[in-house]
Amino acid sequence: MSPVKLTTPVVIVGSGLAGLTTGNQLLKKKIPIILLDKASSIGGNSIKASSGINGIKTSAQASLSINDSEDLFFNDTFRSAKGLGSINLMNRLVNESSDALAWLQQEFGLKLDLIAQLGGHSIPRTHRSSGKLPPGFEIVSALKNRLEVAEKNNPASVKILLNSKATNIEQRDGKVTGLKYVDINGDYHLIKTSNIIFCSGGFGFSKDMLEKYAHSLKNLPTTNGQQTTGDGQKLLHEIGGQLIDMDQIQVHPTGFVDPFDPDNNFKFLAAEALRGLGGILINPLTGLRFVNELDTRDNVTNSIEKYCIGETKTAYLVMSEKVYDAYKDNMNFYLYKNLIKKISLSEFIEDLPISEEQFVHELHSYSSDKEDKFGRSSRINSFEGNINSKTTLFVGKITPVVHFTMGGIKVNDNSQVLDANDNVLLDGLYAVGEVTGGVHGSNRLGGSSLLECVVFGRHVANYITNLL
Ligand SMILES: Cc1cc2nc3c(=O)[nH]c(=O)nc-3n(C[C@H](O)[C@H](O)[C@H](O)COP(=O)(O)OP(=O)(O)OC[C@H]3O[C@@H](n4cnc5c(N)ncnc54)[C@H](O)[C@@H]3O)c2cc1C
Ligand SMILES: *[C@@H]1O[C@H](CO)[C@@H](O)[C@H](O)[C@H]1NC(C)=O
Ligand SMILES: *[C@@H]1O[C@H](CO)[C@@H](O)[C@H](O)[C@H]1NC(C)=O
Ligand SMILES: *[C@@H]1O[C@H](CO)[C@@H](O)[C@H](O)[C@H]1NC(C)=O
Ligand SMILES: *[C@@H]1O[C@H](CO)[C@@H](O)[C@H](O)[C@H]1NC(C)=O
Repeated sequence: MSPVKLTTPVVIVGSGLAGLTTGNQLLKKKIPIILLDKASSIGGNSIKASSGINGIKTSAQASLSINDSEDLFFNDTFRSAKGLGSINLMNRLVNESSDALAWLQQEFGLKLDLIAQLGGHSIPRTHRSSGKLPPGFEIVSALKNRLEVAEKNNPASVKILLNSKATNIEQRDGKVTGLKYVDINGDYHLIKTSNIIFCSGGFGFSKDMLEKYAHSLKNLPTTNGQQTTGDGQKLLHEIGGQLIDMDQIQVHPTGFVDPFDPDNNFKFLAAEALRGLGGILINPLTGLRFVNELDTRDNVTNSIEKYCIGETKTAYLVMSEKVYDAYKDNMNFYLYKNLIKKISLSEFIEDLPISEEQFVHELHSYSSDKEDKFGRSSRINSFEGNINSKTTLFVGKITPVVHFTMGGIKVNDNSQVLDANDNVLLDGLYAVGEVTGGVHGSNRLGGSSLLECVVFGRHVANYITNLL
C-alpha cells in the first residue's frame, strides 16, 4: 500500500455513460471528482451503443409531430417490466427523459435529430444524430472530451485514472471514508473520500456470474466487452448491499454470426434499428417470416429459439435497399465487416427451402398486406414495387446473445445503495447505470439504458451537490 496521496469529495467508479454523466454534472456544479476505470480507455459498453437514446417531448419528436407522453412511455416501460422493478425509478426515467435529451443537446451540442421506433415502444422515441458517428460513440466522445479538457485546464477539478481497478470500499460509523484501487503494476492505493458512485456496468461477460444467476444462458455468446464482469455488484454485495433480479438477463435476439468466425464468444450486435428501420427475420428452415420483428426482445428471442431450431438457432435478417439508404453509415460498417452481404433475391433463395415465387410472395405480403400477419405495426422501408429475382437484398445471419443485465444493486430514489432491509447501507455510497437493478424490471426497452445513465447520473450529481 502506497501512502495516501489523493483526497477528493467524490469518486466515480466506471467511465461509461453513467460515470461520464455524473462526472460532467458534478463538474458543472464545481464539485471536484476523481473518475477511475479499470480499462485502458474510456467508455465501457456505452461507447458501443448503436440504436440510440429514448426521450419524449424532444425537438425531434416535435418536428415530426410525434405525440408522445409520460403516460405512454411509462406504460410501455411498465408493461415490458412485467411486474418487477421499481415504479418510482421508472417514473423518474420517463419524467426526466425530456430534460435529459435537452441536456445532451444544449450542454454538448449533440443533434439527436433522427428518431426510430424500437421493439416494445408504441411510438418512435429512440434518438440518434445524423452524421457518421454511432450514438454511443458520439455521446461518450462529447462527455469524455469535456472532462479531459477540464482535467488539463484545471487539474484540481477532474482527475481521470485509467488502468485502475476499484477493489475495496472503506467505511467508518456508517459512512464511506475511502476507496482502494489497484493500478496496472499491481500496486494498491487509497483515495480518501466521503462519496463513491459505482457506475461499473453489468455482468454480461462473466461466465461465473451467468452460471450462478442464469445457468441456462452460460453458453450463449455476448455483445458485452470483456470488462463487463459485475465488479460493482460483487463489491457492494460483499459489504451488505442488496442484489435484486439477478436472474433477469436480456438476451438480444440479433447478434451477428460472423461467417469467418462463427464460434467467437463475442458477437457484434445487429442493432435493433435494423429491424426498426425495416429489417425482417426469415427462418432458414422455412424461408418465411415467423415473428413480429418489433415485438419485445424477449419475445423475439423466444420465437427464434422456438422456430429456428437446429443446432445454431440462427435466422436471416433481410433488408431492402431503402433500409440501406436510411442507415447507410452503419450498413457500410457491417458490409465492411462481412456481417451483411449485398445479394440478389435469386442468390439468397439458393439457401432457402422454398421457391422464388413463394419468397417473392412473402415479401409482397409483408410489404402490402393491410394487417400484418404477425401484428407488426410499423412497416417502413419495405420491399415495394416489382419484387423479382434481381431485387437487391441486404442479408445477415443472426443469433441470440447475452446483451444486458437488468438486475443488480438495489438503490432508493436518490441512487443510494440499500442493504438487505431496504435501509441505506452507508452514507455516501451510490450506484447508477447497469450496475443497479429495478429500472427495467424483467425486460429493458431498447434505448432506455443510455437514458437511465443520463437521468440518474444527473440526479445523483445534483443530490450530492446539495448535501456537500
Ligand atoms: C453492443 C451494444 C449496443 C448497445 N446499444 C444500446 C443502445 O443503442 N441504446 C441503449 O440505451 N443501450 C444500449 N446498450 C446498452 C448500454 O450501452 C449499456 O448498458 C449502458 O451504456 C451501460 O452504461 P454504464 O455506464 O452503466 O456501464 P458501462 O458503459 O459498461 O461502463 C462501465 C465501466 O466501468 C468500468 N469498471 C467495471 N468494473 C470496474 C472496477 N472494479 N474498477 C474500475 N472500473 C470498473 C468498466 O471498465 C467500464 O468502462 C448497448 C449495449 C451493447 C453491448
Ligand atoms: C396527443 O395525446 C394526448 C394524450 O396523450 C391527447 O390528449 C391529444 O389529443 C393528442 N393530440 C393529437 C394531436 O393527437
Ligand atoms: C396507460 O395505462 C393506464 C392504465 O392501464 C391507462 O388508463 C392509460 O390510458 C394508458 N395511457 C396511455 C397513454 O396509453
Ligand atoms: C412522474 O409523473 C407522473 C405523472 O405526471 C407522476 O404521477 C409521478 O409522481 C412523477 N414521478 C416522478 C418521480 O417525478
Ligand atoms: C410478448 O408475448 C406475450 C406472450 O405471448 C404477449 O402477451 C405480449 O403481448 C407480447 N409483447 C408484446 C409487446 O407484444
